[in-house]
Amino acid sequence: MVGAGMTIVAGSGVVVTGGGAGIGRALARRLAAGGARVVVNDLDAGAAAAVAGEIGGYAVPGDVATEKGMRELILAARGHLGEIDIFCSNAGIADGTGPDAAEESWQRSWELNVMAHVRASRELLPSWLSRGRGCFVVTASAAGLLTMLGAAPYSVTKHGAEAYAEWLAATYGHRGLAVHCICPQGVRTSMLAASGRAGDIVLREAAIEPEEVGEALWEGLADGRFLILPHPAVGDYYAMRAGDTDRWLRGMNRMQQRIEEAGL
Ligand SMILES: NC(=O)c1ccc[n+]([C@@H]2O[C@H](COP(=O)([O-])OP(=O)(O)OC[C@H]3O[C@@H](n4cnc5c(N)ncnc54)[C@H](O)[C@@H]3O)[C@@H](O)[C@H]2O)c1
Repeated sequence: MVGAGMTIVAGSGVVVTGGGAGIGRALARRLAAGGARVVVNDLDAGAAAAVAGEIGGYAVPGDVATEKGMRELILAARGHLGEIDIFCSNAGIADGTGPDAAEESWQRSWELNVMAHVRASRELLPSWLSRGRGCFVVTASAAGLLTMLGAAPYSVTKHGAEAYAEWLAATYGHRGLAVHCICPQGVRTSMLAASGRAGDIVLREAAIEPEEVGEALWEGLADGRFLILPHPAVGDYYAMRAGDTDRWLRGMNRMQQRIEEAGL
């Protein structure tokens, strides 16, 4: 299914976490349309069942923010698929604003936005490395390459998600592991709807539909590209951040001032 840098979807066994809604649902639909056999996970059992029913997939509801929940998902998915070829570690949360966010918000963000990827790869890598192929897809965020104003736990843990995906690619690329990191800006889902004034000012104008993220993943899999940027401008901002960090920070701070002036 997976060759050096290029992933063939048809016939693959796929898992999508948080696949009951939003971006996860779009990824599940796109991969199923490409001929994959898809296990749909979600905390919301009804949502997982609805998407699985629609795409001819198999629902495994459960909480992937815990070690036990992730292990049970992978066990059930293997029972159904035989082997998992592509794992889309997509579920994520935006919880808390700044340093004053509750300890629980920081911890919840860490467990789902970072540790879920670590735990999934811990379960999957032994068999992927022994057969010399596997594909791990992390839904991080543009916040993981840049930052999201008004969302410190989210920005920090999405940087962690992107860093972990990079580490996996750098460490196991020569052993047949393909890693892809999806980094969108605003996508019209319930998460964007809940992102408040900062989301309105920073994200809404350039927001895209979840289906466009599904299409971007499809192209990224075919190209064997690590960074999947459904908003191409994110690549420019990322280069600017690296090339002139102070200028980039001044620009972000001007945006913060606009948010404050708008009364956030
Ligand atoms: N919407 C955006 O603007 C945007 C932009 C960049 C990145 N992202 C990322 O995309 C991913 C999906 O976000 P979305 O916008 O589709 O969100 P969403 O809230 O619309 O959907 C998330 C889904 O994940 C499920 N979920 C939440 N916690 C879970 C858990 N612990 N275990 C299993 N399922 C769980 C929810 O029930 C929901 O169905 C997240 O990682 C998010 O950070 C979103």
